[in-house]
Amino acid sequence: MLDLTYRPRRLRTTPAMRALVRETTLQVEDLIYPLFIVPGTGVKEEIPSLPGQYHLSVDEAVNMAKEAHALGVLGVEIFGIPTYKDEQGSSAWDMEQPVQQAIMAIRKEVPELVVVSDVCLCQYTSTGHCGCVENHEVLNDETLPLLAKVAVSHAKAGAHMVAPSDMMDGRVAAIREALDEAGFTNVSIMSYAAKYASAYYGPFRDAVHSAPEFGDRKGYQMDEANRLEAMREIELDIREGADIIMIKPALSYLDIVREARDNFDYPLAVYNVSGEYAMVKTAAAQGLVDEKRIVLETLLSMKRAGAKIIITYHALDVARWVR
Ligand code: PBG
Ligand code: ZN
Repeated sequence: MLDLTYRPRRLRTTPAMRALVRETTLQVEDLIYPLFIVPGTGVKEEIPSLPGQYHLSVDEAVNMAKEAHALGVLGVEIFGIPTYKDEQGSSAWDMEQPVQQAIMAIRKEVPELVVVSDVCLCQYTSTGHCGCVENHEVLNDETLPLLAKVAVSHAKAGAHMVAPSDMMDGRVAAIREALDEAGFTNVSIMSYAAKYASAYYGPFRDAVHSAPEFGDRKGYQMDEANRLEAMREIELDIREGADIIMIKPALSYLDIVREARDNFDYPLAVYNVSGEYAMVKTAAAQGLVDEKRIVLETLLSMKRAGAKIIITYHALDVARWVR
């Protein structure tokens, strides 16, 4: 029981005192930096919907990966824009495409960096959906072997970790089996285990041209009202073989993060998504908030909620600020 003579302010008297009793820290070792790879060479173009983020050709992505590594960032997550789209999304497992080429180049040029790849079909299908489509329906089981092919192609290129973001049922098991069969038993899976059908992905879809051509993603991504279902999704992915579980988006879902941390003893990641980033950048550009302070406070809240890994577009800035 708390003694009524206890004065909380005693432990807030100096910066050193506050640091001694600080319960949570944000470190550069927590961060993964997303990269957007486009065709061509010498391309480094700012993404209009994500100020401060770039469309990068493979050579420029290597430079960015070097910069991230020099700042102490431990990992990058690779997203891509392919040169062609079709119904199946076959450019997603084409070894000549920007993603596979970038994975190879970064592994070669920045060997210490952990290379994570996003596994999904929506940037690659002509429908913009995360699976194959028949009569305006996104099919589940027919999509699984395609996702497995994508994951294996990324592993062949050298990815340390694949991160399936499609939310089809059973995809972690399908990917694990395919990776193991191809000999990639050491390639790990970070599953977007509880991924909500969120409005916060808007700027990302503009950035990678992946908005669905019809309908929405509510038939596969989670209903934002559901908490218990998130626990079932996470349990399933763990049982199917996920090594790291992720919750996405981060900021509006910190209750889910806390509950996941309390229920599962697996490494826990959050994705601080494009809409969260864009809101902060817009408010900061207008002088409404102090960007550095608001970013550090926001990311710290994700750590406090129980996440270890934070995938964030702020990674390079944060790395500079917390060194
Ligand atoms: C693709 C994918 C999305 C994001 C990551 N992978 C968008 C979506 O599901 O529509 C969102 C990332 C962000 O908003 O920063 N499945
Ligand atoms: Zn997708």
